[in-house]
Amino acid sequence: MAVLFVSVLHFIPGDVNAIVEPFRAAMSPGSALVLSHATSGTATSQTEEVQRLYQRTPTPLQLRDLAEVQALFGDFAMVAPQPGAAPRPAGAALVPVSHWRPDPEDHLAVEGLPASPFLASFLAGVGIKRAAVMTEQPRPEPAGQQASRRTGRR
Ligand SMILES: C[S@@+](CC[C@H](N)C(=O)[O-])C[C@H]1O[C@@H](n2cnc3c(N)ncnc32)[C@H](O)[C@@H]1O
Repeated sequence: MAVLFVSVLHFIPGDVNAIVEPFRAAMSPGSALVLSHATSGTATSQTEEVQRLYQRTPTPLQLRDLAEVQALFGDFAMVAPQPGAAPRPAGAALVPVSHWRPDPEDHLAVEGLPASPFLASFLAGVGIKRAAVMTEQPRPEPAGQQASRRTGRR
């Protein structure tokens, strides 16, 4: 299963983690959380202009920084934006949206540049829900069974 929050959460003010967290909790281990979000971290003059325009609409842009966007993944294991890349520390797995697994023929990926300064202000990431860690202790055997094993009688 996958849950997609693609280009949506930056239209919602306030504590968006309160929206995402119940989805993270309901997802099965191995499921993917896909998220893109406009960020203040790499904001350009173009981003500021777009944000100004959005202020005049019913859905103003809510820019969030990299740490805030990363926090929306909780403790999910982040997928490397480039196939075969080494596992990345939290935060390093969020990249400009055009850098997340670009097509091989995409010359922009070769140059290492985002498709536009504005797209550089859009972070993208994919996280996978980890398997639950079993913390339950083995239950003690009923007293009768322990005794019969000691004596060898059933
Ligand atoms: C840029 S579109 C992205 C649509 C789709 N996820 C995609 O990637 O093609 C932004 C979406 O956010 C939705 N949206 C805007 N404000 C919202 C809000 N407060 N609550 C829920 N959805 C909202 C809009 O209806 C629109 O469908």
